[in-house]
Amino acid sequence: MQLVVATSNPGKLKELQKYLGNCLEDSNWDLVLKPQELDVEETGDTFAANARLKASEIAIATNNWAIADDSGLQVDALNGAPGVYSARYGANDSERIARLLKELGQETNRKAQFACAIAIARPDGSIALESEGVCRGEILQETRGDGGFGYDPIFFVPDSQLTFAQMSSEVKRSISHRGKALASLIPQLEKLKL
Ligand code: IMP
Repeated sequence: MQLVVATSNPGKLKELQKYLGNCLEDSNWDLVLKPQELDVEETGDTFAANARLKASEIAIATNNWAIADDSGLQVDALNGAPGVYSARYGANDSERIARLLKELGQETNRKAQFACAIAIARPDGSIALESEGVCRGEILQETRGDGGFGYDPIFFVPDSQLTFAQMSSEVKRSISHRGKALASLIPQLEKLKL
């Protein structure tokens, strides 16, 4: 059974293969990348809506099962911004970080969270499975660490006293929004073995 990953990013495919590795090993699921020309606009106003939309449209277009995710950063003092606009908040990672730090200014409430929604659609576009994961943390005044991507260097996790950019990918995966969403998806996916 093919499960089409609704992303053009081979990095995401690799990440999903790693996360879902054990589960997929003993199942008949085979992860494949979506055709590059198929693009779905993220018009939803929640991560879950965008994940559903992408999974559903790619499933219909490929007549296959499809998995999609949507994720982003939500800052409490900015009423959840940048949220679903996280990827579009600036032209590149450093501009996005600079804009966020400027908008937050000297605000003392630095609490924030990363959130990730995942959806799996059947070939007819109906949604078969959904999951969500959240990781709470705080926005630093300046960047710390040089690993990871996106907003990682300003996202500090008090429990581990590190930013996402200072963590190994294994540690990040074990506590991150995406890791949590995938962890809760695996038991559901196992039940779906066809
Ligand atoms: P998308 O899920 O590919 O639409 O990406 C959403 C955007 O949210 C990314 O471009 C990043 O800016 C941000 N983002 C999502 N997850 C992470 C993460 O784990 N670390 C840092 N930034 C993230």
